[in-house]
Amino acid sequence: MEKIKVGFVGAGGMGTLQMKNLVKNDDVEITALYESDAKRGKAVLKDLGIPGDILVDDYDKIVENPDIDAVWLVSPNGYHGPQSIKAMEAGKHVFCEKPCAVKFDEFCRQIDLERDNPDLKTQVNYLMYFDPLEDRVKSMVAEGAFGMITQIQINYRYPIATAGTMAWKLKKDIMGDSIGMGTVHALSSIINIMSPQTKPAAVFATNLGSQVKGFEAEPIYNILIKFDNGAAGFCFGNIESSGGLDIYHNLSGTKGGFVFDPQAGSQQDKVRYRSEENTKGEWVWPLNKQRCIEEGFENLVWGNDTPLSDSSAAALLRVGESVNHFIDSVKTGNNSFLSFDNSSVVAEIGWAAQMSAASGREIPLPLDRETAKEFFL
Ligand SMILES: NC(=O)c1ccc[n+]([C@@H]2O[C@H](COP(=O)([O-])OP(=O)(O)OC[C@H]3O[C@@H](n4cnc5c(N)ncnc54)[C@H](O)[C@@H]3O)[C@@H](O)[C@H]2O)c1
Repeated sequence: MEKIKVGFVGAGGMGTLQMKNLVKNDDVEITALYESDAKRGKAVLKDLGIPGDILVDDYDKIVENPDIDAVWLVSPNGYHGPQSIKAMEAGKHVFCEKPCAVKFDEFCRQIDLERDNPDLKTQVNYLMYFDPLEDRVKSMVAEGAFGMITQIQINYRYPIATAGTMAWKLKKDIMGDSIGMGTVHALSSIINIMSPQTKPAAVFATNLGSQVKGFEAEPIYNILIKFDNGAAGFCFGNIESSGGLDIYHNLSGTKGGFVFDPQAGSQQDKVRYRSEENTKGEWVWPLNKQRCIEEGFENLVWGNDTPLSDSSAAALLRVGESVNHFIDSVKTGNNSFLSFDNSSVVAEIGWAAQMSAASGREIPLPLDRETAKEFFL
């Protein structure tokens, strides 16, 4: 099979990491790079051993190149919508960093283009879908280890970097909203973990303006998701201040519960769970081998196969898996579960949260497009 020819866009922090994964993939050839900072683009290509002459000075040179099969977008948020739409209109597959768009009409257009062009493969990079711990918790939920989950809380509190060339993250027209910038990771985890049991039915949210860093868009969101079986999901989102990465998980079910606390003092205390079936209802710390042995749960000790979501090992794994998932989708012709259309519920929670915070009302899902279009005009 011929290699998939990729036109890459945006060789910043995240883009460089993804390019590193792409050059390792035998099915792929990066045939063009558009990076608005040409000096940076050249340096990244040199580091990766890719000829510098693939750097182009205009995005249209990627879109108009008939040899390019797929466009890979890791540019700042505000460009994702326009660049992906142009690429799909030119018949290219699209890998798109999150958020898929910062304007609601662009989000609708992405979905319409995907539906009208079933041969085009797309993927939004909601990385937490590739996280080993999330996978493990989701499997436990699916097996009924905790019974029916009635309440789930996942936070995303992390002061994102805004220094130097990353100052675009402070600007509303380029960053969009803070949910798409960061909090969406927690929302996608909530949806993913709950998916074996239920789906979201409505959103209520409040927000708070910048207190510390000068974000133009509100960096703080508190989001309540009502599920169609009556369960509730809650997310504290804050992209400007936190004592390190807070992606706290707390699931409570009819037959047990699960807690992942990245800010617990020691590694072995970060995860605990209880299950009527598996732990006789007792709390178990599966990363604390000694304690498991002493308490008669030696068989429940976790090995090294589940790096925790706050570790750099998990972060690298997620990027590698996500990159390969898109390449597989293009190769096989199978739509990704994270295509613009298939992942739209994740983005819809973000749009709905903004509508709710502004109006003080609960917003039903799926979003009514016309109402949302009017709101975001
Ligand atoms: N999925 C994740 O977990 C995750 C993590 C980090 C970043 N991201 C996303 O990746 C994207 C890039 O973030 P980053 O942290 O690498 O930022 P960054 O500032 O390090 O990189 C952005 C790069 O894009 C270049 N650029 C600016 N305007 C451009 C344009 N019009 N077209 C092409 N390139 C342009 C900049 O020169 C810079 O090199 C953002 O959308 C961000 O939300 C996602």
